[in-house]
Parts: sequence; structure tokens; C-alpha cells
Amino acid sequence: VTPALIDPFGRKIDYLRISVTDRCDFRCTYCMDEEVTFLSREQILSLEEIVYVAKAFIAMGTKRIRITGGEPLVRKNILWAIEQIANTPGLEELTITTNGSQLYKMAHSLLDAGVSRINISLDTLKAERFHALTRRDKFQQVIKGIDAVSQLPFKRLKINSVMLKQHNDDELFDLAKFALDRKMDISFIEEMPLGIITNHDRAATYLSSDEVISTLSQHYQLTPSSMTTSGPTTYYQVAGHDHKIGVISPHSHNFCDTCNRVRLTVEGRLLLCLGNEHSKDLKSVIRQTSGDKKLDQTQLQNAIIDALALKPHKHHFDLDDTPQILRFMSATGG
Ligand code: GTP
Ligand code: 5AD
Ligand code: SF4
Repeated sequence: VTPALIDPFGRKIDYLRISVTDRCDFRCTYCMDEEVTFLSREQILSLEEIVYVAKAFIAMGTKRIRITGGEPLVRKNILWAIEQIANTPGLEELTITTNGSQLYKMAHSLLDAGVSRINISLDTLKAERFHALTRRDKFQQVIKGIDAVSQLPFKRLKINSVMLKQHNDDELFDLAKFALDRKMDISFIEEMPLGIITNHDRAATYLSSDEVISTLSQHYQLTPSSMTTSGPTTYYQVAGHDHKIGVISPHSHNFCDTCNRVRLTVEGRLLLCLGNEHSKDLKSVIRQTSGDKKLDQTQLQNAIIDALALKPHKHHFDLDDTPQILRFMSATGG
């Protein structure tokens, strides 16, 4: 029997996030600059390699896999990889996080491929502000996509809104209402300092989850909920609604003690924590030997076990300091 993955702090790791591309069709101002260089074809894992690593994790007890990017749905043939992973016995759910730009045409195929939950990033409901925040004019396209998925029987849908003081905090209530009206949950996120971005002052735009909840409590009756999707969101029940409002508070309420996840970057690096650089290169392991797949799997699984020993206890995000993590969120998918 393949051993379950337990880290040095006794945390069971059964959730893998896979970034399938660093490319994105948006340029959100808090995430990357307009001019960015993307990785070349040679630097990134093929879809076959991604599926191969995913299967090794599932064989080692991974129950949930989330596909992220960049924007995962701009990667060519991604549906093929999603289907392969989703249909691997042992996996309980295959989920994706997307900016929503491709959903208007991919909603059905994602459901058919076996995606059970979709998280969609949406930071504003004002078309002009959307354009300013994402540097792209695709607001209507994203709304069309959200409407398309909300009509299909996905297990759960969630909106993610990164809250930035003086940029979108006047839309807290509108965003919550937008999600609840469409029978979706919503997570309000405290921004994390990843990569150095020009013209964006993270300390000045920081909005704590406590402020979010206290503002929303003026409109909604919120009660802490024990519901969890095994992720960092702390949910609140909303009186009169079936769906939930949540907050992700890496700064104000650290959740690392309950961490259950590791990340595979598109370059094939196994990243042990979003807020640290500890990692292990799996690409070289899978490319080292070919032919006898069984042999590869054992080597890969041993490499994964070795890597787990490197998992740090927690992140050390500090909004007032220069970012310690120079990679951008788009390279690891959050
Ligand atoms: P589910 O709980 O499975 O629905 O997903 P999620 O909310 O964990 O994933 P999603 O991709 O929607 O990410 C939402 C936000 O949570 C993003 O800003 C991520 O960067 C952040 N996030 C996800 N996992 C972690 C984590 O382990 N540590 C930290 N610090 N942030 C995380
Ligand atoms: N801090 C927190 N969340 C971020 N996201 C992108 N960059 C950051 C950041 N620096 C969000 C996206 C998306 C999710 C994957 O992470 O908006 O909803
Ligand atoms: Fe886990 Fe690192 Fe995220 Fe904390 S910051 S929850 S340790 S991945």
C-alpha cells in the first residue's frame, strides 16, 4: 500500500493544486504587470506529464485536485487532461479556478469532463472598473460565462473577490448579492504579497476580513458556519439564503495549521507552500527515465515523499515589506 502523505507537522496532504499554464488573457493590476514574459513550451510540463504526476498523487491518497493557472482554460486541449484526471479512481473531486473568460463556450464541456466545482474570480460588477482592474474589456463575456455555469448541475460554484480598499470595497454588498442571487457562494480574499508589481501599494489597499464581515453584517444576518470545502475559506451562513459568504484571511487569521495542500507548478516544481519557496523539481524525475512506467511511478512517488519533508509550517507574508516571494500568483495558481 502506498503511504498517505503526512508532513513534518502531522498535517495530512490530500489536496493538490495544479497550475497548467502561467499564461492569462487578463492582466489584473494586483497580479501582474501589462508586460510579462511567459514561459516557453520547453520549460513547461506537457499535458501527459501533468496527468502522470496527478495519477501518482492520487495513488498516494490525494482526494481533491484543483486545476489553476494563469488561466487554465486558455491551455490548448486542457479538457483532455481534465477528463483523464477526473476519471482516475480514488479521486473524489476535480475542481477548477478560472477568471471566467472562457466559460460562455466551455461550461458544458467542463461538466462533461467531470469538473465538480468551479471558482470564478470576479472583483467588480462595474464594466469600466473591470476594464481598469483586469486591463481587458471582457466584463460581459465573464458575466455570460457565469450565467452559463450557473444553469448547469455543478456541485458548487463560488465567486472569488480579492478586496482592495478604495478600489472595490464599495461593492462588497453588490458582489455578495450577485453570488447569492445566482445560488453561488462567495469568498472575499485578503490580498497576498506575491511578486513585485508596479503602481500597486498592497499595504494601502489592504482590507481585513473582519472589516468585510462587519460591513456585510449591516445588510445581512451572518452566523459562523462549520461548512467547509477543505479550503482556507471561513464561511458564514446568511439568513434567508442557502448559499454562503466566506472570507480568506491569510493575514488576519492564519489558517496554515490546517493546511492540506501542495502545488504543482507548470514548470514541474512541487511547491510545498504558497508563501515560501521550498520546492522539489519533479520534472527532472519524470524525464530522467522513460520506458518502464512502473519504475518511474516509484521514483516519482519517492520524490514526492522526500519533498513533503520540506513543507514549512506557515507563510511569512508581510504587506509592509518588499515581497519575499518573487514569483507571481499566476505562476502557481494561488
Ligand atoms: P476550495 O476551498 O476548494 O473551493 O478552493 P479555494 O478557495 O482554496 O481555491 P481558490 O483557487 O478559489 O483560491 C481562492 C484564494 O485562496 C486564492 O487567493 C488562493 O491564493 C487562496 N489560497 C488557496 N489555498 C491557499 C493556501 O493554502 N494558502 C494560502 N495562503 N492561500 C490559499
Ligand atoms: N492575493 C490573493 N489572491 C489573489 N489572486 C490573484 N492574486 C492574488 C493575490 N496576490 C486570486 C485571484 C483568483 C484566485 C486564484 O487568487 O483573483 O480568484
Ligand atoms: Fe499551507 Fe502555506 Fe497556504 Fe499556509 S500559506 S495554508 S502552509 S500552503
